[in-house]
Amino acid sequence: MQILQPTIKPLETYLKNQGWLQDNETIEGVEKPGEGNMNFTLRIITNRRSFIIKQSRDFVEKYPSVPAPPERVQREAMFYKLIGTVDALSRMMPRLIGLDTINNVMNMEDLGAGRDFTFLYQENQVLNQKDLSALIRFVTTLHGSISRENTDHYISNKAMRELNHEHIFVYPYLDDNGINLDDILPGLQKVAHRAKGNTTLKKELKKLGAIYLADGDHLLHGDYFPGSWLRTNEGIQVIDPEFCFFGPVEFEIGVMIAHLKMANQPEEIIESVLLQYGAVIGFDPWLQRRFSSAEILRRILGLAQLPLAIGLERRKALVEEAVEEMIRKE
Ligand SMILES: Nc1ncnc2c1ncn2[C@@H]1O[C@H](COP(=O)(O)OP(=O)(O)OP(=O)(O)O)[C@@H](O)[C@H]1O
Ligand SMILES: [Mg+2]
Repeated sequence: MQILQPTIKPLETYLKNQGWLQDNETIEGVEKPGEGNMNFTLRIITNRRSFIIKQSRDFVEKYPSVPAPPERVQREAMFYKLIGTVDALSRMMPRLIGLDTINNVMNMEDLGAGRDFTFLYQENQVLNQKDLSALIRFVTTLHGSISRENTDHYISNKAMRELNHEHIFVYPYLDDNGINLDDILPGLQKVAHRAKGNTTLKKELKKLGAIYLADGDHLLHGDYFPGSWLRTNEGIQVIDPEFCFFGPVEFEIGVMIAHLKMANQPEEIIESVLLQYGAVIGFDPWLQRRFSSAEILRRILGLAQLPLAIGLERRKALVEEAVEEMIRKE
C-alpha cells in the first residue's frame, strides 16, 4: 500500500495513475481541509478545480502507534454510494468522485472551507431552527429510506464497530486505563471512580454493547455528532460516515441527543428533536436513552474527549443522570 504524503509531485503521479487528474491538469497547492484524527485528509487544488482525498491507513493518523481498520474508507465510500440514490441525502453530503480499493483512498467533492459544528460545545451557542430541521430531516430520511430489505449492499463494518465498542463500552470503565481525567478537569477522576465501581452499570453496559455489535436493519451514519456536521455556503452538510452500519436507529438518535446535552442546548431543543424525529421514525425511547447515556459517559470519562465548555458540576450531573438511566428498568 502506498502511503500518501502532502507533496505535490508524487501526488500528481498518483492522481494521474488513478485517472483523477485530467490531461494538462496540475496541482497548484494542497492543504489540510480541517481537523481530523483518524485519517489522512487533504484538499487538492489544481489549475481547474479542487477536490478532497481521504486515505485510511492501518493506524490512526494522529497516533501512528494505534492500529485501526485499514479498509474503513471503503465502508465510508459504500455509504456514499447507497445514499446516492436518495436526493434529499445526497444533496446534504459531498459527492463521491472515486475510490481506490488498493490503497484505500477516496476522492470526493470539496464542500469548501466550512466550519464544523463543534463550536456548539462552547458557551452560549444554540443550534438555530433551520440547521436543526435540516439535521433531523437528514436522519429521518436516512433511517426511513435505506434498510436491510431494500438494499443490495449490506454494510456490517464490524472492525470499526469493534473499535468503537471498545471506546464506548469497555475502555472508560477499566480500572487502570491510563487516562488521567484530572488533567482534563480537576475532580473528574473521582467522578469516573464512582462509575467504575458500579457493577450494575457495567452489567447494563455489557448488554447495550451487545446490541450495538449485533447486525440490524437500518442504515446509520454511525457518528452523528457536531464533528460530522459542516456549515457551508450551501447550508449544513454531513460528512464522515466511516462508522456507518446497519443497526438500531436508537443508537443514532441517542448519540445526537447526547451531544446536544453536552453542548448544553436548551431542553426545548432536545425535546423538539425527539418529537420531530419520532413523528417520522418509530423508536424505543428507553433504548434511545440508554445509548444517549453510554455516549455521555464515554465522552466525559473516556479517551475521545470533546472541547466542552460545561464545568465539573454540570459534567457530574450529566454522568449521574446517565448512570441512573442506564440502570433504570424498562
Ligand atoms: N468533502 C469535504 N469538503 C470540505 N471539507 C472537508 C471534506 N471532508 C472533510 N473535510 C474537512 O476535513 C476535516 C476532516 O475530515 P473527516 O472528518 O472526514 O476526517 P477524519 O480523519 O475521519 O476525522 P475524525 O478523526 O474526526 O473522524 C473535516 O472536519 C472537515 O473540516
Ligand atoms: Mg472520522
